[in-house]
Parts: sequence; structure tokens; C-alpha cells
Amino acid sequence: MNVPVITIDGPSGSGKGTVARRLADVLGFHLLDSGALYRVTGHAGWLAGLDPTDAEGHAALASQLDLRFTTAADGGEAILLNGVDVAPAIRTEEGGARASAVAALPAVRRALMALQKSFAQAPGLVADGRDMGTVVFPAAVLKVFLTASAEERARRRYLQLKNKGLEVDLRALSKEIEERDYRDAHRAASPLVPAPDAVRIDSTALPPDAVVAEVLALAESRLMIHGGPGH
Ligand code: DC
Repeated sequence: MNVPVITIDGPSGSGKGTVARRLADVLGFHLLDSGALYRVTGHAGWLAGLDPTDAEGHAALASQLDLRFTTAADGGEAILLNGVDVAPAIRTEEGGARASAVAALPAVRRALMALQKSFAQAPGLVADGRDMGTVVFPAAVLKVFLTASAEERARRRYLQLKNKGLEVDLRALSKEIEERDYRDAHRAASPLVPAPDAVRIDSTALPPDAVVAEVLALAESRLMIHGGPGH
């Protein structure tokens, strides 16, 4: 099956989640938030009392996740793990750190591969993460690598958390983000690196709408060349 896939990779706070969601909406494509799968795996491991370095334990959990992405009563996201909404729990800084730790385990990455690939369904998929264009969907029709300065990424995350009513220290947050990005970029298994054929976009001074417009223009021209959805 030749389903068009658009990949958006980049570090935390680069805006890839927002851009991927809007792009999927506009194109009517499915959406894969691969970071959520690592977050859920980390969370499931924590619930099961696993040590964060337990590769086999986490891989076993990752290979049999009972997961459903849906909408919460307030219109926000709901991620049902065994029927229970874990979205609020996995979207914390702790959830991010746990995800980053289990994402460094090759057995976990292997265990999540089939699930990630299963999201490629007609009419198309927008996949956001760290290794979407390099490892999971190397034949993607368009690969975007989205970046932003470290300061701007920390500022965005700070505002996000503040909007949720959480008290956060910008300095501590910057340090956490830097540490997580370093770990994600320097691990041996599927590190965060741009695919050689990725289009790089720096969103530091760009609002999400401008990034979406740029990616959409690229996507439309690529999809036309490659026959587009349904052709
Ligand atoms: O995108 P995010 O912040 O929700 O991702 C959480 C963690 O999961 C991040 O620190 C790195 C990891 N991750 C990964 O290793 N590979 C992916 N494709 C997506 C996320």
C-alpha cells in the first residue's frame, strides 16, 4: 500500500506537535504522535514498578499496549491506556523524562515499530517525533526537521505549563529541556538527527501558522508529484 507519509521531526518545543496536528487536519490525514507512545510506555513501566533501565520489561509492555487516542469531555486530548485516560499524567515534565529514558532502550524502539507503522492508513499520515524520517518512515514523501533556539523552546514550554496552572521555574525548565535534548540526540539507538533529505525549518521567529503554511506548500507540491492521496 502506497500511503503518503509526511514526517515532522525535531526537539521538544520546536512546535512539531502543533504543526503536525494542524497539517493533519488540513489534509484530512491521520496523525501519529510517536512521543506519546514513548510517554505511555514510560508511564506503564512506572505503574508496573519497573526500573527505568529494564529494557525487556518495558519492551514487553510496549508490544502489547491497549491504547486509544480520543477526545476528552473538555475537547482536549484523551489517551486511554487500558481504558484509563493517562494524558494528564504523561504530559508532565516527569512523563517526558521517563519517556526519554525508555526511548533510549533499543528493545523498546523495536517493540513500538509495528504499532507506529500501522498508523500509515489511507488517505495519508502526518507523523511527528524524533526518528520518523530517519528510521520509521524512511520513504516518506516529505520530511521536515523543525528546530528553534533552546531559549525559545524553553519559553514556549514555560508558557504551556503556566497556562495549565502549573508553577514552573524557567531556569530549571531550560536545564531539563537541554538535558533531555542532549540525551535524545546522543543516544546510540535512533538519535534525534535530521534525515539527509529533510527540509529544515527554524521556527524561532515564526508563529505556528507560518510554519504550517510553509509545510503545506511543500506537501502539496510533493503530493502532486507523487500522485497524491487516492491516485
Ligand atoms: O515528543 P515528546 O516530547 O512527546 O517525546 C517524548 C520523548 O520520547 C522524547 O524525550 C524523546 C522520545 N521520542 C523518541 O525517542 N522518538 C520519537 N519518535 C518520539 C519521541
